[in-house]
Amino acid sequence: EKGGFAHFMLKEIYEQPKSVRDTVNPRLLNGLPSLGCGDLSGVERVHIIGCGTAMHAGLVGRAAIERFARVPAEVHVASEFRYGDPIIGKKDLAVIISQSGETADTLAALRLAKQKGVRTMAIVNVVGSSIAREADCVLYTWAGPEIAVASTKAYSVQLAMLDLLALQLALDHGRISPHETRVLCADLQKLPDMVEEALKLDASCKEAAAAYAKQEIAFFIGRGVDYPSSMEGALKLKEIAYVESEAYAAGELKHGTISLIVEHTPVIALATQSKLFEKTVSNIKEVKARGAEVLLLCGKGAHVTEDVADHVLMLPDVPEWLMPSVLVVPLQLFAYYMAAERGCDIDQPRNLAKSVTVE
Ligand code: F6R
Repeated sequence: EKGGFAHFMLKEIYEQPKSVRDTVNPRLLNGLPSLGCGDLSGVERVHIIGCGTAMHAGLVGRAAIERFARVPAEVHVASEFRYGDPIIGKKDLAVIISQSGETADTLAALRLAKQKGVRTMAIVNVVGSSIAREADCVLYTWAGPEIAVASTKAYSVQLAMLDLLALQLALDHGRISPHETRVLCADLQKLPDMVEEALKLDASCKEAAAAYAKQEIAFFIGRGVDYPSSMEGALKLKEIAYVESEAYAAGELKHGTISLIVEHTPVIALATQSKLFEKTVSNIKEVKARGAEVLLLCGKGAHVTEDVADHVLMLPDVPEWLMPSVLVVPLQLFAYYMAAERGCDIDQPRNLAKSVTVE
């Protein structure tokens, strides 16, 4: 049932092009997003709510929403939201993200949002799940069943759905023209092929993992939209390879964390956005000067000099706004091969359950 793959996780990583295609295609009509959740032109603020990987998807989605629609968006950790005193206006939109649709904290957050009288939209992968049933509107993602405990393809489809939502909001708010929206939607339709291309980094990820497998800590750094990708990369490495890994906005390192960098400390630097590239390179130089062993992930077009990093993974050439969807593939593969090298139980990591139905 693993389709020839050694683990469900690897199989699910490889299913991502299909999952993204199955999720995006039914939501496009004449080349424009068609979410079927009514007119979004009156939405004044977006609250995105989820846990773990779903919350990370929300952080990437927030950037797309603010960039294209210029609608303020916030991301809430569901367990904090539910016991907090969130400020929510009647014209806001609450977007609840959950693969399983059964996460206790996320479900409670949805109920609180409904109680506050705000419109709720759920991005869910399991048909008929509690969150899907209770939200005002459901956007199903079509990753298919995710068996491995660590979430991979569900994250990719959440990103794709959030991209569609960002474009729909932007269009409904008149921030981008139908023509511009069509161009962006055409990018999105090509995303499955781009993800397919990223899977070709498999062997290089395995090689990089072999170089770092004996390390017990790792730092992920990135600026802008690469920061949430860093968080997702670090979470994968923690949960399946048991490496203590942390993500930092690259500019934050020097405000304390850099004291932890010594000879051979692994630093995984993500730099997919051209306008921030040189800034991240400066941070890489700072950690390299203290002995860090740097793995750099960047776009093909980036100007990478020989000595900037110890290992480099070049991502396929894709529009920069879609980079998080492509970047996550080598991050997943890196964590996977690290876990394999370290002899971990990849599909069933210790202490974790697939669906967290208790708080
Ligand atoms: C990480 C992971 C978890 C889940 C989180 C939310 O790989 O799987 O962080 O993303 O427990 O689960 P759902 O999306 O089912 O609400």
